[in-house]
Amino acid sequence: MVNPEIEKRKTFAIISHPDAGKTTLTEKFLLFGGAINTAGAVKRNKANQSNTSDFMEIEKQRGISVATSVMGFEYSGKRINILDTPGHKDFAEDTYRTLSAVDSVILVVDCVKGVEEQTEKLMSVCRMRNTPVIIFINKMDREGKDPFDLLDEIEEKLNISLCPLSWPIGQGHTFKGVYSIYNSHLNLFQPDKTKVAESVVQARDLDDPALQQHLREKEVSTLKDDLELVEGIYGTIDQNLYAEGLLAPVFFGSAINNFGIKELLDTFIDIAPSPKDRPAEERIVGVSEKNFTGFVFKIHANLDPKHRDRIAFLRICSGKFERNKFYYHTRQDKKLKFANPMDFMANEKSIVDEAWPGDVVGLYDSGNFKIGDTLTEGEKLQFKGIPSFSPSIFKEVENMDPMRTKQLEKGIEQLTDEGVAQLFVMQPGNRKVIGAVGELQFEVINFRLEHEYGAKCRFRTLTYSRSSWVTSSDRKKLEEFLKRKQQHIGIDKEGNPAYLADNDYMINLTKQDYPDIDFHKTSEFKS
Ligand code: G4P
Repeated sequence: MVNPEIEKRKTFAIISHPDAGKTTLTEKFLLFGGAINTAGAVKRNKANQSNTSDFMEIEKQRGISVATSVMGFEYSGKRINILDTPGHKDFAEDTYRTLSAVDSVILVVDCVKGVEEQTEKLMSVCRMRNTPVIIFINKMDREGKDPFDLLDEIEEKLNISLCPLSWPIGQGHTFKGVYSIYNSHLNLFQPDKTKVAESVVQARDLDDPALQQHLREKEVSTLKDDLELVEGIYGTIDQNLYAEGLLAPVFFGSAINNFGIKELLDTFIDIAPSPKDRPAEERIVGVSEKNFTGFVFKIHANLDPKHRDRIAFLRICSGKFERNKFYYHTRQDKKLKFANPMDFMANEKSIVDEAWPGDVVGLYDSGNFKIGDTLTEGEKLQFKGIPSFSPSIFKEVENMDPMRTKQLEKGIEQLTDEGVAQLFVMQPGNRKVIGAVGELQFEVINFRLEHEYGAKCRFRTLTYSRSSWVTSSDRKKLEEFLKRKQQHIGIDKEGNPAYLADNDYMINLTKQDYPDIDFHKTSEFKS
């Protein structure tokens, strides 16, 4: 029998291209869940998205966002855990890692802008793990694209089948609300930006006379026509396909006006998956297994230089996590216990005595953890699914203060353990190369090295913009390749060689020259 504690948990992330409405939607969910009382209570985990990078601001946000990293609340008898992801594109890798810890996602699309660059990238990360995706088309109060055109665009660009479960009544200035296809129900709300509005009319179906009072005849007939068309094209939802990540239910609404949010949330808790079995290198770990297992997917630095401790975020995969019990840190081969594990219920941190699969606990850490570490009750396990992706900017570290070499090394080691950026070591001379997604990370590293470790460095920009991890079934051929291409080979923190290239063209040429070598886009060697 499935443990009800596991069954009731829904752990997910809301993701979007910046500005599509992720923060607003998160806030509305918290309002519905009673976790906050007024809009604006969620600290904005939104970095400055202008070109002038403001890393202090980002760092401040990183500090603040410990509180919003996980937002747990109860709704309709379910325990909901929303895992927050950073909005700024330079922290995309943080987002990808957080996605390894969720059981499903809600992807927000702006109805005016349609599918944007980050929407596509995020979707491809979801696809790597077959994560079930629900799509929320936001800002229907704006004059955006036609709903049918939007669905076509999403299906084509995101390469996924869709099934609308709600449908907008009007759009832009004529937007009245949404009809829930999922439970044939209509709620019309009064727009309200600050609280959850009471629904002004609830209709059982489209022939309910209550509708006529609030909608014009034309609106009702258009809605009926649209719904007929939707059913003809998209049919009814196949929940198995959704659970396998092959079909995305779609909802329409306006997060800021609270339109379509309840329909989304109510359907979400009904269809979104509870925690499931998870693959480790050694075996599949069953969610209902008695013994506790979990992995670290995120590490937050303490910004106060006097307190170097960090917070490691642990996702529980099986069993029950208990405070003050010794657990086995499989990479370090040692036992650790946690006196003050943190829970993030109702947007507040508190000490937790026990936690279940799907939950995330925050562990105070003085440097024991790095991203991807696994904890168990003694079994040697390593959870999979937390790959590194190719960075796009590579810079060599130049030590500016030889008296502080040790501090620099330690700083770089720890910051890359936290996942701020990736480290590659190149020969000759054990040169350290940092790879990151955006310029911002270099500013953050520089700042933190100086303020937390008292070390100074300069970054020398390299021409590379891609890394491909390389393997081969023929050891000799691999060794020969690594030797020949030595000046382009960086060894990552796990000891795996990566081929650094200026562009895809160069990688493709090299692939042709070395057919026995396999090139991988992520460090987990799946693609
Ligand atoms: P993000 O986290 O995905 O980056 O987006 P966020 O929720 O911060 O929303 C981005 C902007 O879009 C915000 O405006 C927000 O108010 C607005 N927005 C969100 N949902 C809707 C909607 O349903 N309709 C319309 N018209 N706008 C919406 P802003 O001006 O950047 O910020 P603010 O001054 O409103 O806080």
